[in-house]
Amino acid sequence: MKTYLVTGGAGFIGSNFVLYMLGTYDDIRIVNVDKLTYAGNLENLASLKGDERHIFSQTDICDKSALEKLFSEYEVDYVVNFAAESHVDRSILIPELFAQTNVMGTVTLLDVAKRAWEQTDGTFGDHRYLQVSTDEVYGSLGAEGYFKETTPLDPHSPYSASKASADLFVKAYGDTYRFPANITRCSNNYGPFQFPEKLIPLVINNALDHKSLPIYGDGMNVRDWLYVEDHCKAIDLVLHKGVLREVYNVGGHNERSNNFIVHRVIEYIHDHVDAEVTDTLITYVEDRKGHDRRYGIDPEKIKDDLGWYPATTFEVGIEKTIEWYLKNKVWMEHVTSGAYQGYYEKMYRNR
Ligand code: NAD
Ligand code: DAU
Repeated sequence: MKTYLVTGGAGFIGSNFVLYMLGTYDDIRIVNVDKLTYAGNLENLASLKGDERHIFSQTDICDKSALEKLFSEYEVDYVVNFAAESHVDRSILIPELFAQTNVMGTVTLLDVAKRAWEQTDGTFGDHRYLQVSTDEVYGSLGAEGYFKETTPLDPHSPYSASKASADLFVKAYGDTYRFPANITRCSNNYGPFQFPEKLIPLVINNALDHKSLPIYGDGMNVRDWLYVEDHCKAIDLVLHKGVLREVYNVGGHNERSNNFIVHRVIEYIHDHVDAEVTDTLITYVEDRKGHDRRYGIDPEKIKDDLGWYPATTFEVGIEKTIEWYLKNKVWMEHVTSGAYQGYYEKMYRNR
């Protein structure tokens, strides 16, 4: 039985990954390490109650001794690092927190894994580490071209700067110690359990409440949307079959403007849920500082080398996502009560 130490496994992508892995493989166990910040939610993992293959530990990835204890208690074969502060708007307000969690947390985790796994001859056996990174490290595209693995790093936001820094530490561990790591750089995910600070769940939630739908700037910024389950499958593949120390971009050639996304959500809710939800709810608000114009992934490497492809079309994925939020109104109520109200006020009041 293989043991996976998954960090950030109570967040959006992490919890989808934990559920995907335990649903796909019988003979594994997952040590789920999450600090449970505002973005971590044990309700995402409720369906695993009683499943002995899932061990949850409320732990900060910056806490070296707590991580060392987990590595000595469990024979960890693989590490997948999702834990991060993940929201660009918050990073513009509090960059230090992003440096702490995303950079120092990654370095701490790398170091603990290296010490636990390194053999007397300096090799690492069959152990593997995967750093979940983002296409935002490449910066912003103009109207043409795509991000390839060879595209120079050019992060613009404090969030993407922290993720790029973490990537460079992972690379340094590979180059210096031959540490067995991979990096995946994925485009925008959507699907179940995404916290409603992000565009798609925020717009779904506001539309159902007849609240205004804030679009930054002119709404013509483009993101390359990927259904979260397809991202989980890509991580599983890279972790087991990727060439060590290589980077893999993950995306689905599914570029959409923010205007398109918001109009599609309105259309679905108007047609299937509430005819009073119309485009009149849209409000164009002050742009995000340093707002990247366009992201677009070239996924040829992971497609050609590992046979990955995004199975869920955007048309299917967005309907599944909206349906999930409609069926999980209690989940949404829980995450939007309390601190979320203050966050929303602060972020949108003066826009
Ligand atoms: P999220 O904000 O939903 O979840 C992050 C999780 O990390 C939460 O459960 C939180 O409690 C946990 N966490 C935060 N700080 C921690 C710490 N110090 N120690 C332990 N746990 C901590 O984020 P997400 O959208 O699920 O993103 C997961 C990862 O994927 C991040 O590394 C992010 O940079 C990357 N990523 C996200 C996207 C996307 O579209 N959401 C795309 C590409 C890459
Ligand atoms: O590209 C991958 C990245 O995608 C991940 O690394 C990040 O963790 C993840 O948060 C996401 O970053 P974005 O900034 O692209 O996602 P967000 O949902 O915040 O915004 C998507 C687009 O929508 C972006 O152009 C900003 C815009 N937007 C966002 C919000 C929250 C709005 O117009 N209005 C909004 O209220």
